[in-house]
This record gives sequence, structure tokens and C-alpha cells, in this order.
Amino acid sequence: MNNNQTLPGSLGLPVIGETLSFVSNPYHFVNQRYRKYGPIFKTNLIGRPTVVMVGPKAIEFVLSSHIEHFSWREGWPGTFKRLLGHSLFVQDGQEHRRNRRLIMPALHGPALANYLDVMNNITTSYLKKWEDKKEFTWFYEFKQLTFDIASQLLLGTNPGEECTRQSKLFTTLTNGLFSINPLPIPFTKFGKAIAARNQIIEDVRQVIQQRQQNPSKDAISLLLAAKDEDGNSLSSTELIDQAILLLFAGHETTTSMLTWLCVELARHPEILQRAREEQLKLATKGDLNLEQLGQMPYLEQVLYEVERLHPPVGGGFRGVVKEFEFNGFYVPAGWQLLYSIAATHRLEEIYPEPERFDPERFSPQRQEHKQYPFSLIGFGGGPRVCIGVAFAKMEIKIVAAHLLRSYDWEILPNQSLETVRLPTNHPKDGLRVRFQPR
Ligand code: HEM
Repeated sequence: MNNNQTLPGSLGLPVIGETLSFVSNPYHFVNQRYRKYGPIFKTNLIGRPTVVMVGPKAIEFVLSSHIEHFSWREGWPGTFKRLLGHSLFVQDGQEHRRNRRLIMPALHGPALANYLDVMNNITTSYLKKWEDKKEFTWFYEFKQLTFDIASQLLLGTNPGEECTRQSKLFTTLTNGLFSINPLPIPFTKFGKAIAARNQIIEDVRQVIQQRQQNPSKDAISLLLAAKDEDGNSLSSTELIDQAILLLFAGHETTTSMLTWLCVELARHPEILQRAREEQLKLATKGDLNLEQLGQMPYLEQVLYEVERLHPPVGGGFRGVVKEFEFNGFYVPAGWQLLYSIAATHRLEEIYPEPERFDPERFSPQRQEHKQYPFSLIGFGGGPRVCIGVAFAKMEIKIVAAHLLRSYDWEILPNQSLETVRLPTNHPKDGLRVRFQPR
């Protein structure tokens, strides 16, 4: 390999490297260095030399054409491996391929169609609650809504008290994922997260036993029935880990996207009006159903623009398991890699006036994301693209369609909507709104 060119960038201070400035604003950190160094540069994050890659060509290299050089398991911090168990997120190679194939049917095709009623009913009950409340902070409300949907469909949780209890356990588990001091001592964030995980495992184990006797149409039942080419199914232990991961990966991200959708619609009345007209036209044909979900091209444009400007996941980590060369720069095995979704989505050469919220970018005439592959990557891309993308889009469209057809909302004054990016992207004060039926 030609390793003449030294990677640009800085490894920062000993041990902590540049971790602090990265954590305080990951997008700004990457964007500033991209302007200075271009699509590949080095830094040091959480004690590891790290190569950062930005832009469609670099992203295609990582997610698709050279995927065998990178490991998910070696990329994510140790807390993820401990708290998310043996699940897709931290698996590679043959093991990952087999499990992904087993899980896919529970999140696509006919299974999805069966989830529509649950998604619709839970959404309707929240809309009634919001009508009564009149003023509330939407981010936290969306968090409960998406948790209810995901836990009932993916974990088989009963609505009501059981859901609330599970939601608290999950919050404790999620807090542990980002703990800086991961010692399994009781009363520390990480210790509490492990205890929460153990409790969730017990709960899911019981649901599995029930579904083994009485299968239903939820994802747990489908996962139990799934078989690989050799006729083997996921064991109970494997199934528990995968179900916990799906819930973790599934609800925070969807919450983020729904919240930013409502911010942008409130900020742009003309866009809201056009999206509403599309919905009202569909509503004349009857209640929301699967067929209608496929007939909302303008809402889809709006959602692409939310995905671009406010990606819930700002980037992805990998471990470099085989050395590689990109643009003439050499990176050795053993390094960490970060590919940046947020910075790629704001490249001026792809998206002119990148800070502007403009769904017309995705109109059939402009299609700005089609100039280069891997320009719109809010759900990742390549063989390991988000497995829940269809589930998430269906859920978001259902909520959005109800909101546009029947409700008005306005952003309350005296709050900050500044972007906070970790653990997931959300407006600082969570979006406080006044809400009413139209
Ligand atoms: C708006 C909602 C969502 C967004 C923006 C999102 C984003 C992402 C991204 C960017 C990745 C790739 C990460 C990487 O390359 O490192 C990913 C992977 C994944 N997502 Fe999602 N996601 C969403 C919803 C969901 C839902 C609803 C589920 C499950 C029901 C889910 C489950 C997963 C899983 C299991 C993976 C790992 C897939 C694999 O490695 O094969 N996600 N997601």
C-alpha cells in the first residue's frame, strides 16, 4: 500500500484526545475539520486513534464497497456490548447475516401490515390525551408514544402500568450506554443499567413462554417462528437480546424525527398547508389505511428533508479490522472509524443552502440526493442499512397524517429549540407547544 501521505488532523491531548470537543458538538467538530482537511482525517476519541470519513464517496467506501474492512463489534463502546448483549448491533460476518435474515420478516411485508392497527390505535389514544392537556412538551410525549408502540409490538408488553414500568427500565438501561465510568457497581449509572437489563430479560422471558403456548401476530411471535436454512431458530437467549436491541434502536430515533417534523411544520406554514391539503384529499377516500400510506408523495419529501437536516443518528462507529487506503491516505488495522451522517447531509456541493429547510430538494424535478449514491444516509446504507426503516417510516407517517388532518399546534414562546445531538438529536427544551383540534 502507498502510505506516503500522512493523515491530516490532530490526535489532541494524551489519553482523552479530542473527546471533549467532539462530545460538546459532534456535528460542529466534524464539519470544522472537514472544511480544513477534506473527507478523511484523524482524531482521538475515547482513548482510541480514530479516522473520520465524510461525504458520499467516503460513506460508500465504508458502508458498501469495502465493508469487510470494518467491524461493528469493534466499533461501539464496551457498554453497548454489555448492555445490548448478543444482538445485531454488535455482531459481524456470518453470525450477523444469519440473524439479520431471521429478524427481517418481523419488520417488513405482511408483518408490517399487521402492525398498522396497533400503531393507529395507540396514536389515537395519545391524540385524545394531548387534546385534553392542551399544552405539553412534545419530545417527552413522543417518547412515550413510540415506546408504547415498540414495546407492544416488539416485546409483547401489555399497555398501561406494565408499559410505564418497562419504559422506566429502558431509560435506566439507555443512561448506562453512555456512562463514562462503566463499572458494574450498584448505584452507579452503569450498575443500575445492568440491573434494569436483568429485569427486562426476566419480563421478556415470560412473554416468550406465553407466546410459545399461544402465538399472536406481534414481532416476538414471528421471531420465535423464524427458521434459518438449516431449520434452526433463534434460542430464547438470542431472541431476548435481539428484542431488547430492537426496542432500544427503535423508539428514541423515531421520537427525534417526529419532534423535528413538528418543529419544521410549525416554522413553515406554507409547507404545512401543502402537506395538509394532500392529507385532506386522501381523507375524502376514507380512514387512514395501508394503501393511503403509499399515496403521500409530498409528506415523503418533507420527511426526507427532516431526515437530512435533523438526522436522529449523527454517525456510526466501526473498528478497522483490515488496513485500508482511501484518497491516498493509509489507515492501519486497530483504529476506530467514525462515518458522519450529519456532516454529509450538509455538504453544499450536494445540497445548496444546506441550512435551509426545503422539501423541494426531493421533488421529482430536483432529486438532489440522487446525484451521488450515499448522499442521504439518515438510516445508514448498504447491506447493514437500518433494519427498522420501514417500521419507522410507517409509524411516522401514521402520526403525521393524523396531526395534519385534524390538529393545529403552535410553538410556545421562551424556549430554546437549539439542537442537542447526544444521545439522540432533539431541540434543547423539547418543543413545548399549544395543541388543539382544527
Ligand atoms: C427514524 C428512525 C430511525 C433512524 C433514523 C434509524 C437510524 C439507523 C442508522 C443510521 C443505522 C445504521 C447505524 C450504523 O451504520 O452504524 C441503523 C441501524 C439499525 N437500526 Fe435503525 N433507525 C431508526 C429506526 C429503527 C427502528 C424502528 C428499529 C427497529 C424496530 C431499528 C433497528 C435498527 C437495527 C437493529 C440496526 C442495526 C442493523 C444491522 O446492523 O444489521 N431502527 N438505524
